[in-house]
Amino acid sequence: MEMKDRGQRIRMRRDNLDGIPEYPPPEGWRLRWFRRGDERHWLEIHEEADKISDIHAGLHRQEFGDGLDELSRRQVFLVSPEGAVTGTVTAWWSDDFYGERWGRIHWLAIRPEHQGKGLAKPLMTAVCQRLKELGHDRAYLTTSTARVAAVGLYRKFGFVPDIADDRERDVWRALEGIAG
Ligand SMILES: CC(C)(COP(=O)(O)OP(=O)(O)OC[C@H]1O[C@@H](n2cnc3c(N)ncnc32)[C@H](O)[C@@H]1OP(=O)(O)O)[C@@H](O)C(=O)NCCC(=O)NCCS
Repeated sequence: MEMKDRGQRIRMRRDNLDGIPEYPPPEGWRLRWFRRGDERHWLEIHEEADKISDIHAGLHRQEFGDGLDELSRRQVFLVSPEGAVTGTVTAWWSDDFYGERWGRIHWLAIRPEHQGKGLAKPLMTAVCQRLKELGHDRAYLTTSTARVAAVGLYRKFGFVPDIADDRERDVWRALEGIAG
């Protein structure tokens, strides 16, 4: 069996949701929010894009439940000019990030054939703005040292390392050494 390099789990945070970089979708592309049946698109995108997590049929429900109210305002999809659902991210939250309620950027992915074209940026703009609209005033995320592109993107959006102890400081130092 192929061994996945999962890297080390890391967190990033943004202590406010002011001044979110504004990237609209490219011409012809559009964003739309979750509707019933999108579970399948979500799974397909992550199956294709995610080389680290174990993606399985029940994962969407496990992560988000099946409440249409929350999903339809929190989970967004990027749709190509041809109507292909190409990327997704979710404006989720936690009631217990250091014991407090924080917005959470959750499960971002772009299909591999469309990566590196700037398409994750409009998803990040949309989801940060949505968190703010929903009353969140700060946000965090978890990712991995193996997800170099994602960490670069989150930095671009003003997320900074969330470091709880010396071990995590060393992990970030090593990552930044690699990233230059
Ligand atoms: C992370 C991911 C969503 C980025 O999507 P993308 O559409 O390729 O990203 P973009 O083209 O919009 O790039 C946005 C920024 O990300 C960073 N980035 C993208 N690819 C990068 C790479 N190969 N190396 C370093 N930084 C990179 C850059 O900061 C880039 O901004 P720039 O183009 O102005 O330099 C995509 O790589 C993906 O789906 N990866 C697999 C799933 C995953 O890791 N999701 C994150 C879970 S935490």
